[in-house]
Amino acid sequence: MSIRIAPSILSANFATLGDDIRKVEDAGVQLLHIDVMDGHFVPNITIGPVVLKSIRKVTGLPLDVHLMISDPDKYIPAFAEAGADMITVHAEATIHLDRTLNFIRSHKVGVGVSINPATPVSSIQHVIDLVDMVLVMSVNPGFGGQKFIPYTVEKIRQLRRIIDDKKLGCDIEVDGGIDTALLPTVIDAGATVLVVGSAIFGNPSPGAKAKEMLESIAALGYHSV
Ligand code: DX5
Ligand code: ZN
Repeated sequence: MSIRIAPSILSANFATLGDDIRKVEDAGVQLLHIDVMDGHFVPNITIGPVVLKSIRKVTGLPLDVHLMISDPDKYIPAFAEAGADMITVHAEATIHLDRTLNFIRSHKVGVGVSINPATPVSSIQHVIDLVDMVLVMSVNPGFGGQKFIPYTVEKIRQLRRIIDDKKLGCDIEVDGGIDTALLPTVIDAGATVLVVGSAIFGNPSPGAKAKEMLESIAALGYHSV
């Protein structure tokens, strides 16, 4: 099985963002996680399509856009247009989740659905067939550098069972509080895409840290391509 690391630029230096992105790209990570926050769905504000468009110009990495915003349908076209390869919305942020997921698909980008720590897996089980990725939040969304919430591991396991039973190929992404020591736990539970923010970009050498994490995945016996 292939496991991928998706550095979250939330903890990068936004004044020198291109340099930070290059460091992790050179280290061999497979995608870049972009946290979009609106100050409404979550208590923080980050970036929008204008910045995404600039990021698109400086990297060849697939852009994994995590929308932590209310009324995501309103902005999906702009993020697709700006260069997103994958757009993930929160199940809690849209009333008509099925419609929103189909709307993302109509923009010819990858489709993701995310659930907050307190949201049960059952809330998305009927739409799993519509997505390429399920994102399990392992912290309450809004900020980088928070502590991993242990009960979310069981949610990853539940999802893995559902996805395998249905013989689906979608990824399980885990986001929040991930560092090297947690890799065996979340991978063993069934996660295939690991978002890492502060552990990489809070490190004085983001490239070296990303390499260390890729190597520990390989040491666990998984491919990381
Ligand atoms: C939190 C974001 C995460 C965050 C992860 O709301 O969705 O992507 O940046 O950062 P760390 O790895 O520091 O928890
Ligand atoms: Zn995120």
